[in-house]
Amino acid sequence: MSIDQYRVFGNPIHQSKSPNIHKAFAEATKQHINYQAQLVLEAVFEHTVKEFFATGGKGLNITVPFKQRAFAMAQAISPAAEKAEAANTLYLNEQGQLVAENTDGVGLVRDICHNLNGELKAKRILVLGAGGAVRGVLQPLLAQLPKQLIIANRTHSKAQTLAASFADLGSIDALPMGQLKGQFDWVINGTSASLAGDLPPLPDGLLTNNTHCYDMMYSAKTTVFNTWAVKQGVAQANDGLGMLVEQAAQSFKLWRGLLPPTAEVLLALRSELRKEI
Ligand code: ATR
Repeated sequence: MSIDQYRVFGNPIHQSKSPNIHKAFAEATKQHINYQAQLVLEAVFEHTVKEFFATGGKGLNITVPFKQRAFAMAQAISPAAEKAEAANTLYLNEQGQLVAENTDGVGLVRDICHNLNGELKAKRILVLGAGGAVRGVLQPLLAQLPKQLIIANRTHSKAQTLAASFADLGSIDALPMGQLKGQFDWVINGTSASLAGDLPPLPDGLLTNNTHCYDMMYSAKTTVFNTWAVKQGVAQANDGLGMLVEQAAQSFKLWRGLLPPTAEVLLALRSELRKEI
């Protein structure tokens, strides 16, 4: 019996935790699968995807920088991928069509609402950033029916464009960072500022001891954003490790038909990450 094959395609890919996560899911659910990380050269992405499925591959995760290209080459597109204009999961449907799905946003919402016992319904949410990462999570966030979702981005025009394209899904507005006012229940950092050790230029007084912060990035050490949030005395500052595990769980469910348990995998990843400090 041949083993069902799964891969994560990206460039770079050495940092990917997905093989370990899916291996743990497979063990927990007694599924027999092979999941590996594969470095794909930019010039041959589409060819490599087609070849993978033509030779019997069952499913792909797609990471930086290929999510938009994965979306563009699919023949069937889920509503989440459609709104995200990007795919992190590919598989073939019963008609043999390549399906683009995006589980990033559901992963974020599951981490907040399930793992962190958070509530988004009727809450005021501030989302920082207006790039691909933010585009990928807006639909599931709005589906939680927040009271208001505000996007603020260093380049304000990008936040305006993004808010306009999601306005049909709920209460969403764009504001320049300097004009943000009032208190937020959730502040979600979807910028890549932490990568450069930077903070988005936010006014003082936005965070209170009732604010929950979430940095969609994660790293061995507390992210710059979360370090800043903790200093402001927020109720909670979480990083995106749980989102990573939850988006993987949703992909696993699409491929294997069952949702794997995530709590232990998340704990194990967290302790692995701490060893990297
Ligand atoms: P991703 O796919 O990770 O979202 P992206 O599409 O390049 O990457 O978007 C990066 C986001 O982080 C953008 O919102 C960017 O702001 P700009 O649109 O103004 O470029 C934001 N960002 C990156 N570095 C930043 C910094 N140092 N301070 C504030 N925002 C930053």
